[in-house]
Amino acid sequence: MDISAVTGIDHVRLSDDGTAVVILDQTELPNRTVYLSLTEAGEMFDAILKLRVRGAPCIGIFAGYAMYVLASRYPETEYAPFLEHFLADKQYLNSSRPTAVNLSWALQRMEGIVLANSEKPVSEIILLLKAESVEIHEEDIRMCTAIAEYGLTLVKDGDGILTHCNAGPLATSRYGTALGPILMGHERGYKFRVFSDETRPLLQGARLTSYELQKAGVDVTLICDNMASIVMKNGWVQACFVGCDRVAANGDAANKIGTSGVAILARHYGIPFYVLGPTSTVDMACPTGDDIKIELRDPDEIKKKFYAEPMALPEVKCYNPAFDVTDHSLITAIVTEKGICRPPYTESLAALFK
Ligand code: MRU
Repeated sequence: MDISAVTGIDHVRLSDDGTAVVILDQTELPNRTVYLSLTEAGEMFDAILKLRVRGAPCIGIFAGYAMYVLASRYPETEYAPFLEHFLADKQYLNSSRPTAVNLSWALQRMEGIVLANSEKPVSEIILLLKAESVEIHEEDIRMCTAIAEYGLTLVKDGDGILTHCNAGPLATSRYGTALGPILMGHERGYKFRVFSDETRPLLQGARLTSYELQKAGVDVTLICDNMASIVMKNGWVQACFVGCDRVAANGDAANKIGTSGVAILARHYGIPFYVLGPTSTVDMACPTGDDIKIELRDPDEIKKKFYAEPMALPEVKCYNPAFDVTDHSLITAIVTEKGICRPPYTESLAALFK
């Protein structure tokens, strides 16, 4: 099966002349294919905040390219003012969204290049920043491919798989994480039946996951989030595959709001629940899920977005957390590019970084 319609798209890249980051605006999908060319820190911040570019690894890739593009335009040619400008932009972009660790992880790598090469001319540092941003992207491609291979060993031909939010190529590069085993298996002739939670309130499951799987020719059925229980009860789901935005050292995993509910349902019905993500999403400095900052978003995303008219009175209070944390006790395994981690996660995750 040819899945290149979804895995072959460069949805985050440097422009040919290297002066802009080009992104596929994910807020326009599935109805329009719109590419944006970003050059200013403000529009880059906005692209992350508004989810034009989204998904933990993808935000990291974007941040790498963004810092290169910004740094290559600084007027400063002396190291000290160049570094000051760089750190200010880095801090600014880092403040756009708090939960996905890949953002700060990628920004930290870019800063590491600047700090480690302080004796070199600024023009050379800029070239090194470009190389690092490309390396972050290429690493992600390799990590997603390895995650897909490992994940594929957890399911068999004919299985039903439920996923939540979007952890496909659009959220990463090439195969994606949670969708990786599905797409790779499909390529190899496996027949999976996928249930995609629509993922309220921003509908990544409807707008992005069902789009990607449909385009790849995978059997996908879109369901509302509150239908996950019935499809599990019907015996249609043999495994849950979800992505992650930050995994704590004890295996607690933050992912799109609603993920922990899926894990609780899966436990009830005896269905294995797998979290898939690169080691760049594992934050060993974060002891437990309680230490993960959860992004709170605009209540209008619940009340107004996607509706012709508001669906609640303006004075009605709204709580709109973008992520929740799935307790490690509900997670059957965490699949990384370095292998499959099983409980106890304090040990199996630590072993990844030895
Ligand atoms: O708010 P989003 O759309 O950026 O949230 C994305 C998710 O929660 C994904 O599941 C996660 O980032 C993993 S992407 C491989």
